[in-house]
Amino acid sequence: MLRQVILAASRSNTMRRVVENAPVSKQVVHRFVPGASLEDAVQATTELVTSGRAVTIDYLGEDTLDAAQATATSDAYVALLTRLGDAGLTRDGRAEVSVKLSAVGQAFDEAMALDHATRICKAAADVGTTVTLDMEDHTTTDSTLDILGKLRQDFPSTGAVLQAYLHRTEADCRELSGEGSRIRLCKGAYSEPAEVAFQGKDDVDASYLRCLKVLMEGQGYPMVASHDPQMVAAAQAYAAEAGRANSDYEIQMLYGIRDAEQSRLISEGVQVRTYIPFGHDWYGYFMRRLAERPANLRFFLRSLVSRN
Ligand code: FDA
Repeated sequence: MLRQVILAASRSNTMRRVVENAPVSKQVVHRFVPGASLEDAVQATTELVTSGRAVTIDYLGEDTLDAAQATATSDAYVALLTRLGDAGLTRDGRAEVSVKLSAVGQAFDEAMALDHATRICKAAADVGTTVTLDMEDHTTTDSTLDILGKLRQDFPSTGAVLQAYLHRTEADCRELSGEGSRIRLCKGAYSEPAEVAFQGKDDVDASYLRCLKVLMEGQGYPMVASHDPQMVAAAQAYAAEAGRANSDYEIQMLYGIRDAEQSRLISEGVQVRTYIPFGHDWYGYFMRRLAERPANLRFFLRSLVSRN
């Protein structure tokens, strides 16, 4: 219930103004977002790569409604990739990027979103790395997978996120578990109706485990995006059962979440990739983090009270 309220607030302009202008927000947001500038992203990347992790970087922004904003977003990705390449951070795919198609025009012009995504994939290939498409609410899933298929014709290593809370996802995992496919499996962070998505945690977790098994038994490269100890342990067990080496899959977590666990996995020889968001447009991302964990919300509310 609380989760639905926060997710509804994540789409409200009034709440956006309140949260963005609350004096403590920036300081709390900093826990999840290293900064607004390209240099902040490069610095966080350098630190994480030095600690043995790979990263994927998201230039914050979503629900773009005009062409100029879509172009500005794709320009930002091209600048980021060029800078990462110059700094030697894209070697062996250590740093890749994550793109929300809604940020490059998907909602009003799918062809434009494909053009921008193609440009970003080209910039990534030029510096020896790749792109993963984030997945947004269920009304965009078909369009995102359609664009993924088109991108993979020229950039076969382009990956995408699938969300275990959707009823369709086990079938999508089967469809996308072939050779060369890179799928990032997460539970799902949006508010979705019962017609399309499992509603209870147990059902979502059970779906995640089924999807994970399909991906691990397939020919592709599974990217296990979860902070949940049960999912991480299952990934390691299913990988071993399927005869996968540590280099044949990776665990992924968000910046600022379970940092010690990320280091522990690295010390065990498991590949870990951290998702780093950066930019000014942090509101939607931040609200989804508050919604998925009461402790995150308590931390934010406590900061408000202690500040006042
Ligand atoms: P969940 O939130 O169910 O928590 C289960 C358990 O994990 C907890 O009980 C606790 O033990 C542990 N845990 C979780 N958070 C913790 C914390 N902060 N500290 C300590 N323990 C914690 N979603 C989406 O819809 N589209 C997308 O494209 C993406 N992309 C994406 C990329 C990456 C790399 C990640 C990690 C996640 C996403 N997500 C996403 C978000 C995802 O859908 C989901 O909302 C969150 O990862 C939360 O789900 P978990 O699987 O982490 O566990």
